[in-house]
Parts: sequence; structure tokens; C-alpha cells
Amino acid sequence: MAEFALPKNSKIQQGKRFPAKPGAKQVREFRVYRWNPEDGANPRIDTYEVDLATCGPMVLDALIKIKNEIDPTLTFRRSCREGICGSCAMNIDGTNTLACTKAIEDCSKGDVPIYPLPHMSVVKDLVPDMTHFYAQYASIKPWLRTQSAPPPKERLQSKQDRARLDGLYECILCACCSTSCPSYWWNGDRYLGPAILLQAYRWIVDSRDEDTGTRLDELEDPYRLYRCHTIMNCTRTCPKGLNPAKAIAEIKKLMVERRA
Ligand code: SF4
Ligand code: SF4
Ligand code: FES
Repeated sequence: MAEFALPKNSKIQQGKRFPAKPGAKQVREFRVYRWNPEDGANPRIDTYEVDLATCGPMVLDALIKIKNEIDPTLTFRRSCREGICGSCAMNIDGTNTLACTKAIEDCSKGDVPIYPLPHMSVVKDLVPDMTHFYAQYASIKPWLRTQSAPPPKERLQSKQDRARLDGLYECILCACCSTSCPSYWWNGDRYLGPAILLQAYRWIVDSRDEDTGTRLDELEDPYRLYRCHTIMNCTRTCPKGLNPAKAIAEIKKLMVERRA
């Protein structure tokens, strides 16, 4: 029987513990993935004891407190701190989500495990490498594609046509869905994954876009679209409450309809 083992240098080791200051009233442990490509060491899990009595309510508040007051070497991305930019996406308490909108009190009891988004290369600590994800996004040409001459002012849209973009335009490209999708884990080099397919559908159904046929042609491929097996992890995990699996199903429906 074949045996598989992780290479020695990728085994996660027990890291340091940073105890809370004496007198801390409401201590919660955060177990955080650490990896620095420059020190040549294996990844490790550091444990930080944070006094929640002096901390904001969200997991991002705890990470910022750790960085500011306990360990300035901890690296993570964040910007808006209100669920708009998508940069603080990570795996918290076993789920891909946004650190800024995940309340500490909503994490399971006990310590709070925090890892980078799964199945992505890690740049450092909680920072995943998004290069391939963004290249896939660019590959769908996510802008209005038209052949007709531009009208004098702007390309108008009826209220009904505009409503077809609801549930799509809100996507913040955080990649929580794609990195929770088993098909994307195994075939992410060629399968576009739920986030990019939701974005593709957003342009396919835009009444102002004049390249629908070409957009569908570009997705008509055994890998780019058809690796979705409706496992639904994507929809379960989306921190914005969107439904990428439905968007993918709608694209597949359009493929069938145009063949009829
Ligand atoms: S529904 Fe499709 S895209 Fe979503 S997790 Fe499942 S396989 Fe991936
Ligand atoms: S669909 Fe949701 S989980 Fe996926 S990238 Fe967009 S906002 Fe993030
Ligand atoms: S910091 Fe922008 S989504 Fe969390």
C-alpha cells in the first residue's frame, strides 16, 4: 500500500506561547499559524493569550492587538475592517471567513485556531499568495465588452436588468469560497473556481454587455467550468452570504440552452 507523508520541512511544529499579562481578566487563547520563508524553519503554531476585556469584539481586533502589544512579527492582511475589501480572509475556527466580521464570541469554545486560506501557497504567516487567483480573474476579462458605438452619455439599464446583478456585484473577491472548494484544491491550475465563475456570470447577465456568446465560449471547457460538482462548500462559506454554486449552475444552464 502506498504511504504518503509530508516533507519534513512542511510539518507544523509547536511554537511559542505568549502568556497574558498578570491581572488579565478574560483570557482567550489564539493559536496562530506562523511561517517565515526567510528563517528556513518549519511552520509552527504560536499561542497568544489575549485579554478580551481590553480587546475589540472581532477576531481581527485580536490579531491587531497581538501585533501591536504582544508580537509585532505576526503578519496578516487587512484594510477596511468592515467586510468590504476581502483582504483579511483566512481560516478561523475551521472555516474560511473574514477576520473583521467574525466575532470572537461566535468561535467554538476553547482556543481559536487561525490558519491562512487552505490550499494556497503562503507568502508569510496568514498571508496567502493570490497571484494565480487574480490571474484567473483577469482571464475572464471582467469589464463591459461592447461592439456598438458608445451612446452620448452612458449605457442605460432597466431596473429589472439591474436587479439581475444583485447577489453578484457584492462579491469582494476574498477567495473564501474558492479555497473551500475541493475541486479547486485539486484542479485549481485549470478550474476557475466559484469566485471567478460567479464574477464571470456577473458579466454574462449584464444587459449592457455585448459579448455573452464569446464569454460562454471561453468557459466551454472540461476544466474551466465543468470541474464544479455541486459540492456546495462555496455557498456555505461565503462571508457575504452569496451563492456561487447557483451562479455556476446558471452558467451551465445557459450552455445547455444555447445548444438546444
Ligand atoms: S459547488 Fe462547485 S464551486 Fe462550489 S464548492 Fe462545490 S464544486 Fe466547488
Ligand atoms: S463569492 Fe463570497 S466567498 Fe467567494 S469571493 Fe465572492 S465574497 Fe468571497
Ligand atoms: S479588512 Fe477588509 S474585509 Fe476584512
